[in-house]
Amino acid sequence: MKRFLAILPALILFQGLPAFLAAQSKPAVIKIDTDRVVGEVDPHLFGNFTEHLGRCIYGGIFEEGSPLADQDGFRKDVLAAAQGLGVTILRWPGGNFASGYNWMDGIGPRDDRPARRDDAWGSLESNRFGTDEFLKYCERVGAEPYLCINAGLGTVDEARKWVEYCNEPGKTYLAELRRKNGRDKPWGVKYWGLGNEIDGPWQLGHKNAADYATFALEAAKAMRRADDSIRLIASGSSNFGADSDWVGWNRTVLDRLKSEIDYISLHTYIGNRDNNFEKFLAASRDIEDRIEVVEGQIKAARVGNPNARPIHIAFDEWNVWYRAMATGEFAIGRTGLEENYNFEDALAMGMFLNAFIRHADIVKMANLAQLVNVIAPIFANQQGIYLQTIYFPLAEYAKQRGHQSLDVLVRAPEYRPDSGRALSYLDVSSTYDPKTRRVFLNVLNRSEKQDIAAQIDGLRDVASSASVWELNHDDLKATHTFGKDQVVRPVSRTFQPAVQDGGFGYNFPKHSLTILTLQLN
Ligand code: AHR
Repeated sequence: MKRFLAILPALILFQGLPAFLAAQSKPAVIKIDTDRVVGEVDPHLFGNFTEHLGRCIYGGIFEEGSPLADQDGFRKDVLAAAQGLGVTILRWPGGNFASGYNWMDGIGPRDDRPARRDDAWGSLESNRFGTDEFLKYCERVGAEPYLCINAGLGTVDEARKWVEYCNEPGKTYLAELRRKNGRDKPWGVKYWGLGNEIDGPWQLGHKNAADYATFALEAAKAMRRADDSIRLIASGSSNFGADSDWVGWNRTVLDRLKSEIDYISLHTYIGNRDNNFEKFLAASRDIEDRIEVVEGQIKAARVGNPNARPIHIAFDEWNVWYRAMATGEFAIGRTGLEENYNFEDALAMGMFLNAFIRHADIVKMANLAQLVNVIAPIFANQQGIYLQTIYFPLAEYAKQRGHQSLDVLVRAPEYRPDSGRALSYLDVSSTYDPKTRRVFLNVLNRSEKQDIAAQIDGLRDVASSASVWELNHDDLKATHTFGKDQVVRPVSRTFQPAVQDGGFGYNFPKHSLTILTLQLN
């Protein structure tokens, strides 16, 4: 406390009058130690997802004949925005769509491809965008492709042949077919999902855990025969309803597939259904509980075997999604899932990413669902695009890819938004880049009413100038639209930490997301 009082004048100087003083009896403490490394922030934490659903593919990333598209039909404005987002890995073709999709329908001359019913979302699939278009798109974005096989209504053999079509270097029938379709060199697709949400009763070809594991095991075996360098993601629990046995699903999948898979997937969508800001941003409790339960299940599956295959979590669908819905599966499809995001949703991006970074040793992939139009940070119509509020934190956090995640000690005022356990108002993660000796401190203040002053301790040799990136807005419900996407924008500035005994004070404004970049000398 004595030390805090000593830095108070500097705090007032750099942060303005601290409104917290009345409400907060003692400052929060954030203690950083660059030796306490959790793990690498895998670049694939900044992945994304494109599904044949609504206007994500057609009218989103791909619009043949549009003056805004290039010679391949890719929307140039969407592509540039995707690059600006820092997308590192892109999942396709679904989602639910994957469970009724036959990849053979989407190759060869476009005009010869069959139009099919899309029985996942109740629409018509022209198949004019298929495997080669998607893989070319990934090359343009600069993202690793991640294909999800049809483990619903599809077969093991279709999956095996898809790997061969994409990756075979020899002169097999399928490799020659790929060449005839314009791609000589193998695409080298490394990441393959063994189906999507097969635990969900809504899924085409939904299975129980044992039947899914039997299918996935055979698919994995056959796919690895086609290319033994691929990495496989098992369909983990997505169905977290009160009566769903999601723990049991994961246990069976891990027990049966542990020698074949590299990841198990998790999906989570959240929403502010009660219009309660602080409760909405308490979803990290649930997200982290699920991560930690599955982490324990992975450990249980591998314990006692020193040569056990490493298995990580791929959080391959996550976002805020609760408004663009209607009852019934097809009705949901017809809304096109076009969520209009607001400021509080943008803060939720920080909450999710902080949770992933804090668990960087086990969560090695995460894919925001989705890229454009459909529950997405980019929104397009035939005339152009705008960037949704959630775009900005995603793009900013992506700059921390490859850093070391640090185990930070946080002592801050707590709250209890429901009958569950109390949690800290400050939601914190931190990363360190040893190459540049910069520490990044990501702080979400999820108090609606209270600024929170914190003493940041533990860092020796902090340079006298640091930078601040801050996202804040008076109106929690502020949104963007065409021609008006400057409303919720981050501000960047420098500040001079008044360092004393290796610590300094900082005031985190109410309902804000702040990233401090601290240079170590
Ligand atoms: O991302 C939208 C849908 O949500 C996906 O198709 C499905 O996997 C999930 O239920």
